[in-house]
Amino acid sequence: MLITFEGIEGCGKSTQIELLYTYLTQKGRVVVKTREPGGTPFGEALRKVSLTKEMTVFPLAELLTFMAIRAQHVEEVIMPALEKRQIVLCDRFVDATYAYQGYGRGIDLGIIETLNRLVTKGIRPNLTILLDCTATVGLKRKSGHHRSLDRFEKEALSFHRKIRNAYTKLAKEDPERFFVVDANGDVEAIHRIIREKVDFLLNDHGIR
Ligand code: TMP
Repeated sequence: MLITFEGIEGCGKSTQIELLYTYLTQKGRVVVKTREPGGTPFGEALRKVSLTKEMTVFPLAELLTFMAIRAQHVEEVIMPALEKRQIVLCDRFVDATYAYQGYGRGIDLGIIETLNRLVTKGIRPNLTILLDCTATVGLKRKSGHHRSLDRFEKEALSFHRKIRNAYTKLAKEDPERFFVVDANGDVEAIHRIIREKVDFLLNDHGIR
């Protein structure tokens, strides 16, 4: 079972993944918590390079870096876990590339689709939780984290608005897979909504 989390910067993904991970493991489930960019030693090393604000990275180079990270991640972490019927919680996956490199940087969506199909070997998330908040709320949360902003976080408000709209569009195009949660509100309340959805999905798949 692959559950992915998406949203703009500061939407609260990491917090919600952590809460869901604790909830599911306390129920005795085997859960793998992972992320992109990252998830493997190779991916984490490339994450550092690709997010640093001290470098200029052109859109195609950015796209191919994220794809390399994903190819490694799928083979090394995601596929083995899914084969063992474990629950994988992944902080960003294929949709982030459509949103950021496609709608954000203007790369052809067809190229992204072809590369995504290649590197994921056809694996698709069973559920994608989109934490939706305004760009202003997201960026305010990020700037309150007291660490320096990365290459994406430093983009203009208009870029983050574009990414939010892109995610909304992706969710509308695939309503069966996406679950959109209003992420402007209370952390615990958001967690309860997510928990309910995931419990329902696991029951539906006969996972007790
Ligand atoms: P994070 O801060 O949520 O861990 O994500 C790091 C950044 O990576 C985030 O700003 C979005 C970006 N990203 C892409 O641009 N394309 C991708 O395919 C992925 C996975 C992440």
